[in-house]
Amino acid sequence: MCGIVGGIAERSITNILIEGLKRLEYRGYDSAGLALINGGQVLRERRVGKVANLEEAVNESHIAGSLGIAHTRWATHGKPTENNAHPHISGDVAVVHNGIIENYQELKDDLEALGYVFTSQTDTEVVAHLVNDALKNTPSLLEAVRQVVPQLKGAYALGIVHTDHPNELITVREGSPLVIGVGIGENFISSDQLALLPITNRFIYLEEGDIARLTRTSIEVFVDGNRVERPVKELDAAVSNASKGEYKHYMLKEIYEQPEAIQQTISQALNGNALRDDFLKNAEADFSKIQQVQIIACGTSYHAGMIAKYWFEQLINVSAQVEIASEFRYRSPVIVNNTLYVCISQSGETADTLAALRDTQKRAAAKNLDIATLTICNVATSSMVRETDHSLLTLAGPEIGVASTKAFTTQLAALMLLILKIGQVKNTIAAENIETITAELWHTPKVILDTLQNNEAILRLSELFKEKQHCLFLGRGTQFPIALEGALKLKEISYIHAEGYAAGELKHGPLALVDNDMPVVILAPQDDMLDKLKSNMEEVQARGGELFVFADINSGVNEKDRQHVVKVPSISAVLAPIVYSIPVQLLSYHVAVLRGTDVDQPRNLAKSVTVE
Ligand code: M6R
Repeated sequence: MCGIVGGIAERSITNILIEGLKRLEYRGYDSAGLALINGGQVLRERRVGKVANLEEAVNESHIAGSLGIAHTRWATHGKPTENNAHPHISGDVAVVHNGIIENYQELKDDLEALGYVFTSQTDTEVVAHLVNDALKNTPSLLEAVRQVVPQLKGAYALGIVHTDHPNELITVREGSPLVIGVGIGENFISSDQLALLPITNRFIYLEEGDIARLTRTSIEVFVDGNRVERPVKELDAAVSNASKGEYKHYMLKEIYEQPEAIQQTISQALNGNALRDDFLKNAEADFSKIQQVQIIACGTSYHAGMIAKYWFEQLINVSAQVEIASEFRYRSPVIVNNTLYVCISQSGETADTLAALRDTQKRAAAKNLDIATLTICNVATSSMVRETDHSLLTLAGPEIGVASTKAFTTQLAALMLLILKIGQVKNTIAAENIETITAELWHTPKVILDTLQNNEAILRLSELFKEKQHCLFLGRGTQFPIALEGALKLKEISYIHAEGYAAGELKHGPLALVDNDMPVVILAPQDDMLDKLKSNMEEVQARGGELFVFADINSGVNEKDRQHVVKVPSISAVLAPIVYSIPVQLLSYHVAVLRGTDVDQPRNLAKSVTVE
């Protein structure tokens, strides 16, 4: 069925519209289109078939704008052709429409008598001409739409824009669903909130007969010309339940999707245990030149970058730095020749990461430096993917839960592929090491599946966290970022204060926090640091701390008084951070559910942080 997406923002919304349409693809459609208002013009692209065709056309024409409407059409009046695809234009008005205008023929006859020429067989086109005509009597787009609506019979939802009104988007709900997605300094419309979930979790559900006027900073809703208030609601779980399938929350579903998501991500790069010849082919010249790597990211993506730093240096002897984007962008970093700048981002739209990237590019250009940029991202159409020289997609599928889970583990898989590729190009890794690691990568989804078998055991442990106020996560080496990630997950969704520490730092401060009310989560894979980690565990126990250990089945770490152990299937030390992400995700999830928090939409947080 048809789908509508529209929006008004400061930034260009082209990719948001495309991404929104993709999220509506499940509804079924036969053509797609969008129109953007920019520089006093309507810029339109329409294509028969998949949204991917439209996307290709948009990429070629480079159209952009911060006000626009988009549509997937399921043909009712007229065949699935480009001319019949929405948006429809009359003069300077562009319209998208869901539903049916029952009296369209009669209206069409009247409009043709007035000299309007129809270019499609659709019922929708009458709306565009009627609004255009009404604007002869009023300068107000809102008023023009208000005059047209009583003339329309049927059930419909509309999105309307005009070149002379670059600061407003008008929408109508009359028998066909329409929600407004409330952003910060930007607002959106859609026929299905699913399309807008990557951008906001705050919605106004319009009622039948509502006409709304959206600007970047305001939303006014009218009924019969009178202003009415409509509440802003958080995500309506009932409506989105369908796509959660058997799972209670998106987060749990996404945790369980990780084996498949990782498999998808590595499949694009591997042919058996070898890297595909065409994998990042265009980047080879850049990779051969680079002397070092600078990773820029925020939140969970930053933790993925921290792990990559260990990998870059241990596996391919390439120096790598990682920095939080909000710090990097404001500290006037020295941009260094022959550096690969890597952005990691689930959304590809995170404001700080994007600004850091743009700033780096500007500084490099000003000094004529030879740098390369690359994005690891889950959204193919995102700004970061478009604005870097190279990109590597995590094929995790849409991640709806605010807490990043499958995006994180697929970022790790993608980073490992990138590292192997760079090592291969620079000849700093032996071919047999590439083979060993890729064979282990293929095996990782199975190890994750086995690790997920611990769900019940982790649920039982989570009961012991329910009433806690604080928690420590400890790990060494590549498990240190997993400790940070575990702490971030727990605080983000359960609102328990949590800290992640490198276990070796314990004595330098955090040990003072440990008492018999302090749960301490330990990440204990079978690696070179295990004995040292065991000493750290002793230190905690000696101060009365209660240990919750995720330990390799062969680690020799066993249950004892105030030491709870969940056995994790064996995995190579190098890929252990991917697997040890799973128990910390499950722990946070179950603690949050027990505490009754809003797991998928935690308070004060947004999925995509497009403002500072
Ligand atoms: O879309 P990004 O990966 O750039 O987002 C960065 C962070 O906002 C994000 O990872 C955040 O920390 C997670 N929601 C935490 O689970």
